[in-house]
Amino acid sequence: MSDNAMTPATITWIGDANGFVRLLDQTRLPIELVYRDCRTVQDIWEAIRVLRVRGAPAIGVAAAMGVVLGLQNTPPERFSERLHEVTDYLRTSRPTAVNLFWALERMEKCASQPDNQSLERLWQEALAIQKEDQEMCRRIGLFGADLVAEGSGVLTHCNAGALATSGYGTALSILYVAAEKGRHFRVFADETRPLLQGARLTAWELAQHNIDVTVICDNMAAQVMKEKKVDLVIVGADRIAANGDTANKIGTYGVALLAKAHGIPFYVAAPSSTFDLSRASGVDIPIEERMPEEITFGFGKQTAPTNIKVYNPAFDVTPAELITAIITEKGIIRPVQAANILKVLEG
Ligand code: MRU
Repeated sequence: MSDNAMTPATITWIGDANGFVRLLDQTRLPIELVYRDCRTVQDIWEAIRVLRVRGAPAIGVAAAMGVVLGLQNTPPERFSERLHEVTDYLRTSRPTAVNLFWALERMEKCASQPDNQSLERLWQEALAIQKEDQEMCRRIGLFGADLVAEGSGVLTHCNAGALATSGYGTALSILYVAAEKGRHFRVFADETRPLLQGARLTAWELAQHNIDVTVICDNMAAQVMKEKKVDLVIVGADRIAANGDTANKIGTYGVALLAKAHGIPFYVAAPSSTFDLSRASGVDIPIEERMPEEITFGFGKQTAPTNIKVYNPAFDVTPAELITAIITEKGIIRPVQAANILKVLEG
């Protein structure tokens, strides 16, 4: 289990430094609860690429553990060369969530002077990244819980919950802590086309926590807001630029525009490891494009003409001016501006 006892653990390291990784296979949820053991760095790369493990913080933890797998049984004289081979390879798994690159850089630093303890150090570092992830989830929840007033309606997009992290989640951590404080509220989970992380994952994990959750198709959000059923929106993030522009699951930008049009606050919840201060603004953030079949042949049924042209960006960027505040494990950034971001992250 994760430290969030009602959601099964997303990622677990089994054994010592020569052990392996056990993942909850999120492609099988909510129908089946299936674990998958990854014993090679190739297994981890594949699991990240096909979204068996997904969500920015969880991708970072999985990649760090993948480095350990890739370095097992490597003689000291080959360690440095192999380390860079493995990290370069893992960098090609998915491009948008910066936590992947952040975790790989940490792993490289901790083994920059190879010796016969290097594998052990890498393993300890991967476990430390996972533990920090659990702590940051909890702190985001504590900082954000009071944004959820008694009786409110909350809309979320994609899955930024326990399944996307090693702990309570980011956006959903705020809801879990609000619920622990005795707050009653109702959540609308956008289905999140094309891979349905909202319907399959967010609805599943909130229901496990006995939180009142209603699934809507993505194109229903405007109507639900117009009916005054939504008091706030909370989403996660995959990469936040220095000016606060935020990449998150495709559709998030549209939700932010709708929130603005209806006068509803739009919050982003993310750990400091999701900030990429080397990117001045959102135009610099790489956006993953995925296979057409996710749209034309999703979940085993053809839903568009054979060979039709498809465009399938997996993320979009919400401009900072549409974001009411960003909730991090270090505090709340409001208004979302470069100077405030630095103040909170460095504070
Ligand atoms: O393609 P996914 O499922 O990895 O996309 C996940 C998201 O967009 C999440 O909102 C984001 O990673 C934050 S998870 C705490």
